[in-house]
Amino acid sequence: FSTFLTDNFGRQHNYLRISLTEKCNLRCQYCMPEEGVPLTPKADLLTTEEILTLARLFVKEGVDKIRLTGGEPLIRPDVVDIVAQLHWLEGLKTIGVTTNGINLARLLPALQKAGLTAINISLDTLVPAKFEFIVRRKGFHKVMEGIHKAIELGYSPVKVNCVVMRGLNEDELLDFVTLTQGLPLDIRFIEYMPFDGNKWNFKKMVSYKEMLDTIRQQWPELEKLPEEECSTAKAFRIPGFLGQVSFITSMSEHFCGTCNRLRITADGNLKVCLFGNSEVSLRDHLRAGASEEELLKIIGAAVGRKKPRHAGMFSISQMKNRPMILIELFLLLQ
Ligand code: GTP
Ligand code: 5AD
Ligand code: SF4
Repeated sequence: FSTFLTDNFGRQHNYLRISLTEKCNLRCQYCMPEEGVPLTPKADLLTTEEILTLARLFVKEGVDKIRLTGGEPLIRPDVVDIVAQLHWLEGLKTIGVTTNGINLARLLPALQKAGLTAINISLDTLVPAKFEFIVRRKGFHKVMEGIHKAIELGYSPVKVNCVVMRGLNEDELLDFVTLTQGLPLDIRFIEYMPFDGNKWNFKKMVSYKEMLDTIRQQWPELEKLPEEECSTAKAFRIPGFLGQVSFITSMSEHFCGTCNRLRITADGNLKVCLFGNSEVSLRDHLRAGASEEELLKIIGAAVGRKKPRHAGMFSISQMKNRPMILIELFLLLQ
């Protein structure tokens, strides 16, 4: 495996997440402010060509999975074309997309034809009115349509990301689990994470253990499935159910030790950790005419600076009005 993509802790980064745009057609409370994010001028965003040049380089070095993310990747007009071109890269086994599902039913047939192999859809509630409150837009039925389209077109499992927030949707855990009875879904309950300005609060976070307890009370037969290598999710299944439920425990049990991910932001920065803010601009080097060797050295140096575990604590300590007790509690949980 490429030495450029291997860090000082032996982690081999074979999974690249590429953000296609910072824009989004929703305004989820935990992700975006009401007014949206300040947009990067178009000229600063990676072009399709640049995305493909970088993807080709990473795949040559051993990346075998690329996930397109956002913002909302499916609002980028050339998304089908990007998937189609990625599909030609030899050695790339998985091309995934993480989407809010609004445009999914409409685009999925073309995306599938282009070579899309995996789909993760965000959905935090099964109550239409609550959906509108959480995402500050309409569209619940479109997302459900997208989920059913993905099943119909044979994606299995279709992963559904549900960020669990106390007082908002934690009362829907069992309803989400019930969905897996007859549908081949992987419902992934995600611990709510703090990001700049998303009003995260320790009390709003529902931990993995607590979710598990709630579900076990209803279904004591819930069984743990074998751990998948480098997965963000711990998977469980209720015997006889078609789908499964998983937990993404970014807060209470981080999975940094097996992290195999790198990410490229929409404006071409390489980020070696979701929580880290040290970024290097691959775009600038590309535009200055850097050779493959030079790019690899820059990538290798960034990967070499990757920390053994995430600095989620820093995000919290930078928050205004943070009560010390929350920080101590958080440390206890780690
Ligand atoms: P798969 O590729 O299907 O395994 O999905 P994924 O979980 O890697 O990606 P997805 O885009 O569906 O993200 C779902 C959740 O995973 C996010 O909300 C994050 O909580 C978490 N996640 C994704 N990537 C990272 C990462 O690099 N670090 C951490 N700590 N969490 C991540
Ligand atoms: N905490 C946890 N998950 C989040 N996501 C976005 N913001 C947060 C947050 N603050 C999830 C979305 C999407 C995935 C890529 O990240 O639900 O499914
Ligand atoms: Fe953020 Fe995704 Fe919600 Fe858009 S759909 S606001 S990118 S979490």
